[in-house]
Amino acid sequence: MKEKRNVYVTRLLHPPVMERLKEICNYEVNPEDRPLSREELLRNVKGRDAVLCFLHDQIDAEVLEAAGPQCKIFANGAVGYNNIDLAEAEKRGIWVSNTPDVLTDATADLAWALLFDAARRVSEGDRLVRKGEEFEWAPNFMLGVDITGRTLGVLGAGRIGSNFARKSQGFGMKVLYSNRRPSPSFEAETGARYVDRETLLRESDFISIHVPLTPETHHMIGPKELAMMKETAVLINTSRGPVINEKALAHALKTGQIRAAGLDVYENEPEVEPELLSLDNVVMTPHIGSATLDTRINIGLLAVRNIEAALNGETPPNLVVK
Ligand code: DGY
Repeated sequence: MKEKRNVYVTRLLHPPVMERLKEICNYEVNPEDRPLSREELLRNVKGRDAVLCFLHDQIDAEVLEAAGPQCKIFANGAVGYNNIDLAEAEKRGIWVSNTPDVLTDATADLAWALLFDAARRVSEGDRLVRKGEEFEWAPNFMLGVDITGRTLGVLGAGRIGSNFARKSQGFGMKVLYSNRRPSPSFEAETGARYVDRETLLRESDFISIHVPLTPETHHMIGPKELAMMKETAVLINTSRGPVINEKALAHALKTGQIRAAGLDVYENEPEVEPELLSLDNVVMTPHIGSATLDTRINIGLLAVRNIEAALNGETPPNLVVK
């Protein structure tokens, strides 16, 4: 019988994923419900044939070197892979894979949850009720902004951005999008109009970010871009925190330059810009875009499928290339 390969898993996953892993390899897993320290990561990847890692694991030259030349793949359990140095992996002949598609709906749904909440002040109202404050219907009490029929700006029309835009159809929204290149199929499906980024920022009532974090998208939204937005604009980010200059966003929210924001990701995650914490016009969730049980199981199973292919000497189905 062929000897089972030796795989390391940096977080304990759900039973169906661990069972599948057991069928294809010998694995060891971080037993603690926390990310590994740097030292633990370096120690545990040593001599492995494959590593299943997550966005909190910084996979750089040192970690790849520690893993050793026999290592076939680092399978990231996320669609984003900005935590992995692709150039260094490629130099060493180590494959990198991600988990697209399986988390598209969950992440787009959360972007909608943040949009509704920020527009209609749901969390703010919840805080008020819980505090036991007296409240009474009044013509000007807790007014939000309308969603139906408004203009939605989608920055990045990849899988998640397109899915998010498609879901606006029930609200009769006009969709603008900006992307590296136009997508005729996306336009046909959603009636979206391809515009440059500046037009999108100036004309949209709601702006949702769905771009990967790269040197080009770092601080894509800063003081200049915030100044272009409508005073009534609502900004949503479920992609990666450093795409927004968080200090500039806090300033824009505080001074009323834009109306509100909904954030699931942060520039220096897990730390959050302190000024944001004191503002009522920002809704914040703790990076839970893909956090549903089914989605997390599917992410794990897809990462395992990539590992299985790599261990068999086959190109992993979700290979990431530079
Ligand atoms: C991803 O897959 O990149 C998400 O951010 C993880 O929740």
